[in-house]
Order: sequence, then structure tokens, then C-alpha cells
Amino acid sequence: MNRKVLVTGGAGYIGSHTTVELINAGYEVIIVDNFSNSDPSSLEGVERITGVKPTFIEVDCCDKEALRKVFEAHDFMSVIHFAAYKAVGESVEKPLMYYRNNMLSLINVLDLMSEYNRPNIVFSSSATVYGDADVLPVTELTPRKPATSAYGNTKQMAEDILRDATAASATLHGIALRYFNPIGAHPSALIGELPRGVPNNLVPYITQTAAGVRECLSIFGDDYATPDGSCQRDFIDIVDLARAHVVAIGRMVEGRSKSQYEVFNVGTGRPVSVFELVNGFEKANNLKLNYKIAARRSGDVPAVWADTTLANEELGWKAERELNDTLRAAWMWEKHVRGIE
Ligand code: UD1
Repeated sequence: MNRKVLVTGGAGYIGSHTTVELINAGYEVIIVDNFSNSDPSSLEGVERITGVKPTFIEVDCCDKEALRKVFEAHDFMSVIHFAAYKAVGESVEKPLMYYRNNMLSLINVLDLMSEYNRPNIVFSSSATVYGDADVLPVTELTPRKPATSAYGNTKQMAEDILRDATAASATLHGIALRYFNPIGAHPSALIGELPRGVPNNLVPYITQTAAGVRECLSIFGDDYATPDGSCQRDFIDIVDLARAHVVAIGRMVEGRSKSQYEVFNVGTGRPVSVFELVNGFEKANNLKLNYKIAARRSGDVPAVWADTTLANEELGWKAERELNDTLRAAWMWEKHVRGIE
């Protein structure tokens, strides 16, 4: 059985945690990354955690000839394609940059997989494809809503490309994992999220506020039609999320896929509000956070969380980490980055 996996964007937040779990599960990982939104230090972190130095090649997946050399040199049968831009606001300002990068890199990967007969791909999709869903929790059969950002549109289009490419091929198998809100860090605090500039996402903003890098967290809206007025999300621990990729790869490598293209929600199945998360962070870490209520952020859906039945039953995967531990790990990582304590 071929246990080699190409991980594009493997130096990033989700990519580095997935690499650790793949190595722990006995896979050999080849990473390509162009460090456009990641840092070489994550590769050192992976090595310190696992004792294994993954093969690394600095490549931009939009550069097909550079990527071809990786396919020429390595006989992996599976690819996990993380490499993509992911900032919602930026994608609205620079849509062409998002379409060019996110679509071209996927098409290059799929082209080369076809040319070199590499059959398995896991794609990083997002709960953003559901938009403001009419019925909660969302299942994989919940209709997708028209995307409200170029970023969201690249995820929808990428899923469609994967569906069509697998349908047209006798051998290609694809699994799209729709991530809910990945948070936290490896419990070793050796790898974690490294946002550039002012964080867009909630947990990095919280940890940077706790560290004194940001003055005050703004809670975007307390007047939603939710139990406490703040938005509800499905916050999934990054290590649990990483494990879902290992299971998805195993399913394809061992020939257990039910069809050539499959989609799974990767969440906890439990809604947590922004207030609950902030209070949970304070409790888990025994500190007080400076926060204020601010206006709603445009584009935010009031609530979204996953029905995880399919992932639980079909993949045999389930989120396991306690939110407390996840929030502790997030803070440990921030302290590590800032050299606190
Ligand atoms: C966003 C993206 C999602 C992407 C995910 C991870 C959309 C609409 N959202 O999810 O696709 O996969 O990031 O990168 O496409 N909040 C605050 N204060 C802050 C920051 C956030 O109150 O400083 C609130 C937000 O209003 C929201 C919740 O926290 O209600 C979560 O926000 P965020 O972490 O940015 O994730 P999403 O917008 O859910």
C-alpha cells in the first residue's frame, strides 16, 4: 500500500497539523508550500513533535512546471490540497487574485494527478458553502447558497471542479472536507496559527488581546436572533480536524470510498456562541479579556453548525477534544509565539 502523501500548503495552519497526524499514522509526507501565508518555523515544529523531517519543496502550485518536478520526483498516490488564499474580506477587494490562485492551483494539481496517474485527493472546503442556511444543523445535502465572497465562491467552484473531474475519470477519487471553524493549536505548543497582521478570525484575535498585542476584542453583534444575541459557530479543534484528513486518505488508499466523489462535514455538531467562546477562554485560562460589543460584521451568518452524522458513521471520525483543552492550547501557543512566561 502506498503511504506517501503530497500535502500542498503543508506549512500552513491546517497543513502543519495534518502533517503531524499523517506522520503519526505512518504516512510519509511530501510538503509543497510557497510561504505566502505561512512560515518555515512550522516545519521545524513538525519535526520536533514527530521526530521526522518531512520532505519539503518550495513551490507555488500555480507554477505547473515547478509542481511537475515534484510529481516526477515522488511517487505518492494521494494529495491533500490545502494551498489557497483564505481571507474573506481580502477576497472581496481582490477577487481576481483569489480566483487565479485558488482555481489555477487546483487545476494544476488535478491535471498532474491525471497525467501521472495519482488517484486520490482530499480538498479543503468550508462551511462557507452553506451560507445562511434555512435549516440547522446543516447536512451534506443542505443546499449550498450563492457565495457572498470570492473566497466562498472559490470553495464552491473547487467542489464543482472536483465533482466533474472525478466523474470524468475512471480512477480519480476525491473527498471534499467542509471545515467549520478550526481553532486551537497542537498541545505541544510547537505549531499553531500564525496570522499575518490584524487577525480576522475570532480565536487569534482573542489570544492576541490576552497577550496585549491587541487592546480590545470587538464582539461583532449582540442582537442576533440567537440564544444570547451573538453569532453561533461550530468550533472544531485543529488536531481533531487534522485527524479527519488521515481518515479520509485511509478511506481512499484502502479502497473504501462509496463513490468517486464524497463530501463530509468536519465539525463537532455543537453550536457555541461568540460570548460562550470568550467566557470559555477566560475560564479555561483563568484570565480576564478586554472586550466590547461592536456593530455586526457584514457577511456574517447568525448561526451555522454541522450535522456530523455522515462523518461519524461513514468516515468513522468524531471530534474528541474538549473545548476547554482547545482554548488552553490556543493560549499556550500564543504565549509560545510571544515568548510569554
Ligand atoms: C470565516 C470564514 C470561513 C472560514 C473561516 C476560517 C465566511 C463567512 N467566513 O468564518 O469561510 O473558513 O473564517 O478562516 O466565509 N468575531 C468577533 N470578533 C472578531 C472576530 C470574529 O466577534 O474579532 C465573530 C464573528 O462575527 C463570527 C465569529 O466570531 O460571528 C467567528 O468569526 P471568524 O473566526 O472570523 O469565522 P467565520 O466568519 O465564522
